[in-house]
Amino acid sequence: MSKSDVELLNKNNVGDEAHSELLAAQAHIWNHAFSYINSMSLKCAIQLGIPDIIHNHGRAMTLSDLVNALPIDDKNKGLDCVYRLMRILTHAGFFIKTNKDINELDQENISYMLTSTSRLLLKDEPLSMIPYLQAQFDPILMGPWHYLSQWFQNGESSTTFAIAHGKPFFEYLEKEPKLNRVFNESMASDARLVISTVIENCKGVFEGLKSLVDLGGGTGTVAKFIANAFPQINCTVLDLPHVVEGCEGSKNLIYVGGDMFKFIPPADVILLESILHDWSDDYCIKILKKCKEAIPSKENGGKLIVIEIVMDHNRDHKSYETQLFLDMLMMVGVNGKERSQQEWAKIFSIAGFSDHNIIPILGLRCVIEVYP
Ligand SMILES: C[S@@+](CC[C@H](N)C(=O)[O-])C[C@H]1O[C@@H](n2cnc3c(N)ncnc32)[C@H](O)[C@@H]1O
Repeated sequence: MSKSDVELLNKNNVGDEAHSELLAAQAHIWNHAFSYINSMSLKCAIQLGIPDIIHNHGRAMTLSDLVNALPIDDKNKGLDCVYRLMRILTHAGFFIKTNKDINELDQENISYMLTSTSRLLLKDEPLSMIPYLQAQFDPILMGPWHYLSQWFQNGESSTTFAIAHGKPFFEYLEKEPKLNRVFNESMASDARLVISTVIENCKGVFEGLKSLVDLGGGTGTVAKFIANAFPQINCTVLDLPHVVEGCEGSKNLIYVGGDMFKFIPPADVILLESILHDWSDDYCIKILKKCKEAIPSKENGGKLIVIEIVMDHNRDHKSYETQLFLDMLMMVGVNGKERSQQEWAKIFSIAGFSDHNIIPILGLRCVIEVYP
């Protein structure tokens, strides 16, 4: 601290209490500034295959066994650095240290087990979130964050993603088959948990239906679950041509490549899973109006099934924070947004829908039945 800095502090009468407040503020800023280290540590653990290695070991795994099983050249460096990687991920709840009272200096004998969170990070787990994280951690998807303030200053209505990469997200995917595949697999992995939960806990929403269009249904994960569980429902997946290319239908499932802003096939029900959050209110209203044209009246069984976040600041701190993260993710990627109950009600009403019913059975997300 220079002499003038000390004089400035004294002049501002910064006493002991104020100092501890300043230090707490500094720690708060550090915590925020370095939050990305949580994501990057997780990315590293997945790339090294740590959850699978511990799982395949069949019992709690010592650090030295873990390091020996990892593709690491310098085992000595590995021991210390893998210990530190495991320490931050254990702190974050991804692993459990089984010998809690062990001396930290006895690093190599510290042993780890998976938690229910890291079990979702196993490659062969049917509900594995690895494909989802592979997309989210891709440098192409992370890059746009460096351009967010530029986007705010930019005036024109392009997206942050487009500033970073020259094209809006979905157009970019059309030209980049590898990322297109990674993204579609990530959506499919997310959709598996969503639709299996809905079918298990909310079967009633599909009762009496004869036809359903899964709008922006990707490679058809959701529609396949529905077609299997309800053989009487004829399902159609509508998505962009490069997404549904090569997808094979079944007895009660077909794929249509097209643009939902131009044409939506008629059906009893249109399902929109993680679609509306990709779009601004104006675009959502266009999509919703097009959906309304494609379904029968409420009396004749017409409705939308929307699966989305309903932002709620009364939730516990972590759940609401995660909703806030997803809202910002939508802003940066596609100019979309996550919406509160009031915001949903507003766009449904502007698009001409009479009523809706929110069913909170999906953790951070809800099923919303929307009636014409
Ligand atoms: C966030 S993903 C939704 C995932 C999807 N519901 C699933 O089950 O995998 C958004 C989807 O909307 C599709 N999409 C974007 N613009 C579209 C358009 N104009 N017409 C049809 N689908 C579109 C994307 O290709 C993508 O599959």
